[in-house]
Order: sequence, then C-alpha cells, then structure tokens
Amino acid sequence: MALFIGIDLGTSAMKLLLMDENGVIHNTVTEEYPLEFPKAGWSQQNPEDWKKALFAGLPSLIKGFDAEEIAGIGAGGQMHGLVVLDENDHVIRPAILWNDGRTEKQVDFLNNEIGKARLSQLTANIAFAGFTAPKLLWMQENEPENFARISKIMLPKDYINYILTGVHSCDYSDASGMLLLDVANKCWSKEMLDVCKIREDQMPKLFESFDCIGTVKPEIANLLGIGCNVKVAAGAGDNAAAAVGTGVVGEGGCNISLGTSGTVFISSEHFGVDDSNGLHAFAHADGGWHLMGCMLSAASCNKWLLEEILGTSDHQAEQAAIREERLGENHVFFLPYLMGERSPINDTRARGTFIGMTMDTCRADLVQAVLEGVAFAIRDSVEVARSLGLEIRRSKICGGGAKSPLWKKIMANVLRCTLEVPVSEQGPGMGGAMLAMVACGVYEDVNTCCKKLVSVASTVEPDPKLAARYEARYQQFKKIYPAVKALFPEIQ
Ligand code: XUL
Repeated sequence: MALFIGIDLGTSAMKLLLMDENGVIHNTVTEEYPLEFPKAGWSQQNPEDWKKALFAGLPSLIKGFDAEEIAGIGAGGQMHGLVVLDENDHVIRPAILWNDGRTEKQVDFLNNEIGKARLSQLTANIAFAGFTAPKLLWMQENEPENFARISKIMLPKDYINYILTGVHSCDYSDASGMLLLDVANKCWSKEMLDVCKIREDQMPKLFESFDCIGTVKPEIANLLGIGCNVKVAAGAGDNAAAAVGTGVVGEGGCNISLGTSGTVFISSEHFGVDDSNGLHAFAHADGGWHLMGCMLSAASCNKWLLEEILGTSDHQAEQAAIREERLGENHVFFLPYLMGERSPINDTRARGTFIGMTMDTCRADLVQAVLEGVAFAIRDSVEVARSLGLEIRRSKICGGGAKSPLWKKIMANVLRCTLEVPVSEQGPGMGGAMLAMVACGVYEDVNTCCKKLVSVASTVEPDPKLAARYEARYQQFKKIYPAVKALFPEIQ
C-alpha cells in the first residue's frame, strides 16, 4: 500500500493528513501558529512558524506507520501571501497574507494608472489588496532595503515545498493570484514584472499542480523520518486544492468553502474572464481554469463573535439557541467585513457592522445574524456568477463552517442551491494528497483520481418557503453596504 501526505497550509494552522491510494485517511494532525495583525487591516505570519509546524506535525502524522510506504507529498496553501527570500534563501520579512489590506494606494495605482483593462489583458484579473503584486509595490515604497535584498519571491506553500526539496517552484493555480501571471498563456507576464520592478529570475519555476517538482532532500527526509525518494507535487492554492478534494474538476463544477475565507469556486475546461472582473479568473489544479469569488472573513466572523466577543468556544451550544422559526425572520443584519472585503465589492475600508437591533434582540439573534451575513455575502459572489449565465443549482461545500448543520441549511436556502457534502471535509489537504498521487503516477490525471476517490456523503436541499423568506432578507441585506459605505473611511 502506498501512502500520501496532504498538507493544508492554512491561516490559523497547518493540517496534515495521511491517505492511501484508495482515499482512506489513516491519520490527521493539526499544528497551530500565530497570526499577527500589527495594524488594523494588516495581516502577517512568519514562514518559520510554518516550517516549525511541518517539522512538528509530519513526524507525529506518520508515527506508527511504515515510512517506506510513503510515496508522495502535496500541499494546498493559503494563496497570495508574499514570501521573500534573500540570496541565501533566508526569509527577509514576515509574509504579508491574503487578507492584508495595507496596499490600498498600490491597488489604486495598478487599477487606475496601469488600468483595469490592461491588467485584465495581461493577467486576466484586476488588482485586489490581498494579491501579491501590490504587496511588492508596497515593499518597494515602504521597505526599500528589504525590497533590494529580494532574491526569490514565493507563495506560502511554495516555501514549504522549497524546504522539502530545495526547488523554487510555483503552480499555475496559486501563481494566478499574484497578478504577475499571464493566466491564459500560463507564463509570467513580462510587462507586469516590469511594473513591479521584478526580474524573471526572482520568480519561481512554474509547474502544473500535479507535476512532480523533485524529491525530499536527504537531510530533510532524515529529520522528518521519511525516505528520500518521496516525491513532492507542485501542489495548489488552497481553493484549487479543496476543489480537487471535493471532486470539483472539469467543466461546470462548483465548490463553496467556508473557512477563514469564504469562496465560491467554479471549474471550467476553458479559459474565460468575467468582463466585470468581479470574479477572479485563475488556473485550476486539474490543468484547466476556474472563476472564483472570495470573501475575506467567513468562518472567522463566527469565531470572532463567539470566542473574542462572547467569550465561548462552545459553537454548538450557541447555534442550538437559534430557534428554527427564527430562520429568515431575523431583523438583525451583519456585514461580515472584519478585514475589509474582496469579492465582489473590493473595499479595504469596509468594516464589520451590526444593524437592526432592538431592546428584544438577544444573543442568539446576533449569532444568527453572523451566520446569515456570511451566507448573504457569499450569495453576492454567486449572483455575479449567475449574471455571467452560469447556473449554480448544486455545489459541493467544505471548510470548518461546513461542519455546522445549521449553517449549511442557511447557506442552501440563501443561495437557493443544493449543497453536497463530501465524505471527507479535508478539502485542501485531501486535494494535496491527490495531487501527489497523480505526480507519482498512481492515477493518470486529476479527473480520474477524483472519480475514484471522492464521493458525496449527504445533500442539503433548499426548502421553497424558507428560501423565499431568505430571498426577502437578502434583498434587504443588499441595501445596507451601499447605504453605509461612505462612512467607513470617515470612522477609521
Ligand atoms: C483566495 C484567498 C483565500 C485564501 C485563504 O483568493 O485569498 O481563500 O487562499 O487561505
């Protein structure tokens, strides 16, 4: 039996899983690490913490298993994070993450001076604060000494792949989110590199997600307790990896991820751009492409309210207090913009907002408003996709938030969409392990691997009456942000 390690390099933790070629998960390990918010709207992490998580997590994942059976490793990682290495491959500064909003000025420069139309021609996308190119411009302007020391630019999971293999690599799905890749032609955009004053030799080598980038270096294999013939797949951005893990590959599949971020991911065999650039047009880990809407704070809004504000970690008890008949009847609304927002409003200054409270509003109404606010904000991206003629009637769902039956019910009714829950919720980690299987030649391609390994455990259908109540609430929700938008810059 061959074993494969899937790594999900998340924002709050690294989750590792050990899976055999038939898709049976034998073990999982989670290693948490800190997230820094040095200023409001800034978000950073130390790549050394990811490395520590790898060295602590992987040996405990494989403890008790035959190390000789481990054939491959594949990672899905938080996207867009800027990792910069000097000429000795040392990390120059903390990684600036996907949900960091410091680059408003640079985003304005890119979208207005270079222009959205040109950016879209060159990269299939426009600039958003979390993307990597505006962060490079920010570094150039604010940390010129650090910028001058850059020898290699990488994304988070590529740093882990570099530690394992010594190879500076990046896959097309993750590279798409840098605003430096010509997504249609799968090569670096020379013009965008020039705009960011970056040379091509500072960029990592590009691969398909299911390509093998190399084998684990002997000294690292020794430290981890694995053989040195273990192959490492290029891996993918976490959303593309999660889509592989939920079987959303090929034409017209949809996956919704309710993790720290919330995403709607629509797979396609063909390259295509949303003319409004409301959705990202990225490469997929199966060799094709996808459109994606990403909200910056999804399950993290729920975690924030419960853990930071209400001081409890008993999510189940809080949700149990929400009465069935209150669904679709809540007059409290929540704008889930705790880190500003990406899709589709692209507003780094937007902020979390409760509105509609009265003296009879109770704790459960606020908890409910947060679950609903996230669902409404996901619906905003789903509506952009629908406006492009994409029918979204069914979707897979994964991520920590998808563990909650109540949240899934709210989501299915707000989105008017049947939700399919895969047997395994380990989206990105499972996708990573599956990419490693293809890289090792166990399956001929990603599609075949998905057909063999992914199945649906249960479905959640929308209920017409509840969906109609939620439709009315969504129409109200849609009016709140435009009404308060102008206040956000003023109150900061
Ligand atoms: C996608 C995005 C997030 C992160 C979360 O564009 O920014 O989903 O990948 O890890």
